[in-house]
Formats: sequence, C-alpha cells, structure tokens
Amino acid sequence: EEIEKPFVEIKWDAAAAEKDGYEHFMMKEIHEQPRAVRDTLSPRIKENESGERYIDLSETGLTDEDFTNVSRVYLIGCGSAYHVGMAARYVLEKAARVPCEVDLASEFRYRDPILEESGLVIIISQSGETADTLAAMRIAQEKGAKVIGIVNVENSTIAQECKNVVLTKAGREIAVATTKAYSAQLAVVYALAIRLSEADGAISRREAAELVEELKSIPDKIEAILSDAEKIKPFADIADQSDYICFIGRGVDYCAAMEASLKLKEISYIPCEAYAAGELKHGPIALIENGVIVIGIITNKNLVEKTISNIQEVITRGAKTLIITNQILPNNNFGYVINIPETNELISPILSVIPLQLLSYYISKNKGLDVDKPRNLAKSVTVE
Ligand code: AGP
Repeated sequence: EEIEKPFVEIKWDAAAAEKDGYEHFMMKEIHEQPRAVRDTLSPRIKENESGERYIDLSETGLTDEDFTNVSRVYLIGCGSAYHVGMAARYVLEKAARVPCEVDLASEFRYRDPILEESGLVIIISQSGETADTLAAMRIAQEKGAKVIGIVNVENSTIAQECKNVVLTKAGREIAVATTKAYSAQLAVVYALAIRLSEADGAISRREAAELVEELKSIPDKIEAILSDAEKIKPFADIADQSDYICFIGRGVDYCAAMEASLKLKEISYIPCEAYAAGELKHGPIALIENGVIVIGIITNKNLVEKTISNIQEVITRGAKTLIITNQILPNNNFGYVINIPETNELISPILSVIPLQLLSYYISKNKGLDVDKPRNLAKSVTVE
C-alpha cells in the first residue's frame, strides 16, 4: 500500500553526517564506547553446557598450552596503549599471578630487552601503524617470543605481521585523542587476563565466570555514566583557565590518572601530570598552591582513606579538587565528587576514565580549541 512520507531536509554535510549530530568526532566516539566494548567482548564470551560463561580467544591461534605455560607477560605500547598495558599489569599479576613488565615501545626497542623463553609479548596499538610499536614487535619476534597483537585496524601493518592478533571492534576512530579504542583495548586485556588466570589455575572456572559476568556488565555501566555526561561540565568551567592540573590515584586508579592526564594535555594544552598518590610527599606536593586543580580517582575500598588524606593535604594548600569515585567517602567537603558505578576494583579504569574523557572534551571546547585535531599531533605516529 503506498504511503506518503513528508520530505525532511537533512542539514548535515558529509562530515557532519559522519558525526551523527555530535559537534565533534571525539564526543561521538566517547558515546560509542558502550558499543565498542560490547562488540569487542561479545565474540569472545562463550557459554558452556552448564551455562557458565567463559573467555574464548582461540581466534588468536593460541592454544590452551600457550596460555598455560606463560612465565612472564611483556606489555608494550605508546601513549594510551601504554596506559592500557599499565592497567593490564595489575589485573594479570593479581588474578593470573603472572609477573608482568610494561614498556614504552620507544624505550623497549632500544634497550636490547631480555625476554624469557616462555614469556608472552602483548603489543598494543589502535592504529597498528605506530613506528615504535611496530619496531618493538619486530624485535620481540626476532628474539623468538610469542607475540599477541591487540589492534583496532584489521589490515594494519602490525595486524599483518603479527601471527596472533586480537582485533578490538571499536570501529574507525577519527579523533586524535583515543577514547573508544582505548576502552576496547582495556576490554581485551581484561579478557586476556581472565583467560590466562583460568589456564594457569590461578582462579577457578566459577571465579572466571564471575569475572566474565562483571566484564559483560561494563557497557551498561559506561552507558549509565554517559547518561549524565554534562554533570562534569561545571568543573570544566572552573578548570579551563588552569595553568597546571594534577591527577592522582593508587593502584589501577593511578593508571586511569595517567590516561586522564594524557587526554587533557593533548586536547586542552594545559600542562598536567599524573602521580601515584603516594608519591605526592616525595616532591610533587611542592607544586600545590592556591588555585591548583587536583583530580583524585578512588575506586579501591582499601585505599579510600589514604587517597582522601592526600586530597585533604592538597585542599589545605589551596587546591581545588575533583574526585571520581564509586566508594562512600567519609564526608563531602572535598570539592566536586562524581560518582561512578561499582565494579571489580581491578577493572575500574574502564569506568573511571569516562568522566575524565568528558572533562577533557569540555575544557578543550571551552577554550575554543580543535578538539578532534589538536596541534602538533597525528592520529597515528608512523615516524619516530
Ligand atoms: C592517545 O590519545 C594519543 N593519540 C596517542 O598517545 C596514542 O595513544 C599513541 O600514539 C599510540 O597510538 P596507537 O595506539 O595507534 O599505537
């Protein structure tokens, strides 16, 4: 039956159409993270006959045997990919009880590294074209190591040259500041950690199944944070004129702080740094004075008190503070507090970074900067 459809003129140009109505690719990609994580995880989460879910990474070509005898894991990347490696180390060492080393690819390639024969090298790169990371992979291969590549671009050089590849399914990432590819990479390293932990008997099938269930819930938890994306805007309005911002955290929160600091510096050009909260007293606290912004990340219930005392120390020295947390804080005179959903403390960076990606976006926008194409940066650093 024929129907009459009113014409609607779409005012977007091609680029705008690609942005799905968002002002910048970065904001679009921040909001694509639930799907990026879900699409990355779902092909790797299987269910056994007793209904227990487990991680299946057989696509990498690695066998049970390969996962069982790993003596050490080497995680290598640049920038945000390196921060993924830092976050992965905590999970791998805590859950799989496998010693880990994390290297900047640009350092690894020149230090003639010693790799254990039954070590596993994990090369992390969104573009799969980063010169230093590619060089690091080739060195690991020349040394005879088993290498897994985690990449987002299927036919990239790293994907082609690496025998064992796990593709993140974040889709094409346009903004120079990575968000959805970073989250998808975290999802893969968490899945890998569960797979390794179960293979070497560090955790039981049931414990692994519980971790898989938690991982499966992450996209909805990211969605929940994004549903209130503008909540952090008032803090962006306070912070956008800062000339120095300091991020602090303990354990995996320190890894999230590193990524948040990189996001902010690369698109707002504000000098900022991430410190292990316990390091403040060893020097960085000298930088704290009236008006400095300090952003704390607190997701480990055993470390709330310690990091809160760091926050109190900087407040007494005149800092303005923001806390990203999923814990109950002792009281609420810590400046701004953004609450995020609870999750297993080992994987919290995949959630705690979301409000800080948004903070960086809003600050860059407030400053009228080119959010998607920040100065001096390229999406893929294919030269040294
Ligand atoms: C992250 O926002 C930066 N654009 C940059 O640090 C990036 O993570 C780094 O260049 C590594 O890129 P890759 O993942 O494509 O190898």
